[in-house]
Amino acid sequence: MEKKNIDWSSLGFGYVKTDKRFVANYKDGKWDKGGLTEDADIVMSECAGVLQYAQTVFEGLKAYTTEDGRIVVFRPDLNDARIHDSALRLEIPALPEGMFIDAVEQVVKANAAWVPPFGSGASLYLRPFIFGISPVIGVKPAQEYQFRLFATPVGPYFKGGVKPLTIKISDFDRAAPCGTGHIKAGLNYAMSLHAIVTAHNEGFDENMYLDAATHTKVEETGGANFLFVTKDGKVVTPKSSTILPSITRRSLMIVAKEYLGLEVEEREVYREELEDFAECGLCGTAAVISPVGKVVDHGKEICFPAGMTSMGPVTQKLYDTLTGIQMGRIEDKFGWTKTIIG
Ligand code: PLP
Ligand code: COI
Repeated sequence: MEKKNIDWSSLGFGYVKTDKRFVANYKDGKWDKGGLTEDADIVMSECAGVLQYAQTVFEGLKAYTTEDGRIVVFRPDLNDARIHDSALRLEIPALPEGMFIDAVEQVVKANAAWVPPFGSGASLYLRPFIFGISPVIGVKPAQEYQFRLFATPVGPYFKGGVKPLTIKISDFDRAAPCGTGHIKAGLNYAMSLHAIVTAHNEGFDENMYLDAATHTKVEETGGANFLFVTKDGKVVTPKSSTILPSITRRSLMIVAKEYLGLEVEEREVYREELEDFAECGLCGTAAVISPVGKVVDHGKEICFPAGMTSMGPVTQKLYDTLTGIQMGRIEDKFGWTKTIIG
């Protein structure tokens, strides 16, 4: 199969329309079987549930070309489980068993020419989402839904590749206790837009959100979880019921313990502790692991000893091991990669 003529290594994190996407519809209380289409546009009522009350949930995962030329996806079963949880929380009907993984397989196969080659630093990002498509004017769930999964080739989420980021502690809250912070709902991102534009206008790359109840504990950014490394090499990640359970973060904690033999800790992380850490990184499907060089807390600068020029040594090892597993360079001990084309 001939690859598309793209300068893969210069791709950023943007939308490029690819050849085929999967679409299924929910009507009269059931999902149809769905299938691939070339139509990237959606026609819907001006009063659709997604437009009026933001009834939409989504996922993000990537397809990679491995060193030996296979095309794989990483832990799609966890995205399937998470979109199930997200959907139920927003009163969206769950997908039929098997539909999510089937859609991933069909879309990756149909867009194989768009999967960036091994070594290019790029990947094919998959964006599954389910949204209320029928008219809703009183506040209630829609009667009809659409599930779509499209693919777009992407490069690094943050411009400048692995240059350590500068982030600010935000004055805005991301997620309320007992709210929707733990699911992947569009509404969580809509409400973060003003905060991220504010941060960018002030010269920061990202926000660090604190817990809304006490503003004393570290939560996450708008699109990634945090990982910290203590001065004695322990990997620490914030435990909170109001952050998204990142698949990358959960995988990295296992990589740290089982591949690298490091001590790991998932616990509450207080703002006051930030100065004690040696390294800090953002982790997620889009972010992979992006190092943080500096956190600014209302004018007070907290600089991590790893500095502003490169990744810290533990972060680098975590990055190399995770991407090594994803690209088939390091043994996949836990069967995390699923071969789509082999
Ligand atoms: N936190 C938020 C708010 C996110 O949007 C994402 C992205 O999916 C993550 C964390 C990272 O999650 P994952 O590693 O599953 O992509
Ligand atoms: C992902 O990492 O897949 C996300 O959905 C994060 C988003 C901010 C791009």
